[in-house]
Amino acid sequence: MKMVKNQQLVYSCILLFICLIDLSNAARSNPPDDVLEWVQKDDRRFLRANIRIYTMVEKIRAAGGVITREPGPVAPGGTTIYAFVNDPDGYSFELFRRPPTPEPLNHICLNVVDIDRSIDFYQKALGMNLLVPKYNNAQEQYTVAMVGYGSNYTQTTVIELQYNYNVTDYTKGNGYAQVAIGTDDVYKSAAVVEQVIQELGGKIIQPPGPIPFIKTKITAFLDSDGFETVLVDNQDYLKYLKEE
Ligand SMILES: *[C@@H]1O[C@H](CO)[C@@H](O)[C@H](O)[C@H]1NC(C)=O
Ligand SMILES: *[C@@H]1O[C@H](CO)[C@@H](O)[C@H](O)[C@H]1NC(C)=O
Repeated sequence: MKMVKNQQLVYSCILLFICLIDLSNAARSNPPDDVLEWVQKDDRRFLRANIRIYTMVEKIRAAGGVITREPGPVAPGGTTIYAFVNDPDGYSFELFRRPPTPEPLNHICLNVVDIDRSIDFYQKALGMNLLVPKYNNAQEQYTVAMVGYGSNYTQTTVIELQYNYNVTDYTKGNGYAQVAIGTDDVYKSAAVVEQVIQELGGKIIQPPGPIPFIKTKITAFLDSDGFETVLVDNQDYLKYLKEE
């Protein structure tokens, strides 16, 4: 179905922004442990739609994508080669040359205003692990950290959280849609997210439940910076893919 394909395309985009809608500053409270434990037992993974990124990038190039940083080593004399390209919509992609990995899509980078709060949010609300601890680059004035599933950032897609010095707000526009993540139970997941939102901010924007025309249960929320995540029922989604 077209809508879902579009979501998958957008999921592959890096450095995108959405409207900051009514960030909740609800009273802080400590969520009970049994609720938060759910995310550790859940079978989480980024939806595999991102595999198409290579095909997509080739298409972008053929369609006149702009190279904004010519390929070259990250550090002088280093062996990791990277480049930045813009797709025709102006979305920025970072390309890495490195050995094959199970997930060709390396990371999605979100600009955040409080990196500690964001690390906390992604760990608690989505059960991600801190795979690359905070790295501060004082010269270029940013701090980054990477969160994701599993224990090794080379084996899975990760979310890179980037704090740019002294930037306290981002204009999100309407280009960014969402990151989609599979879950075994959208209802339990939404309960966890709701708890974490009370502590760290954010907002549930789609209560958990079935979306009839895609026959899939989902829930959607904004994180503490206003970035949208959709949690999609694993079984429903597999069924949907088979029917396609
Ligand atoms: C991560 O996986 C790579 C590839 O299998 C391996 O070389 C590396 O040692 C692993 N790192 C850690 C911290 O386990
Ligand atoms: C800018 O940000 C850095 C890093 O967070 C901080 O150390 C510094 O005090 C900030 N400067 C101003 C003028 O706020």
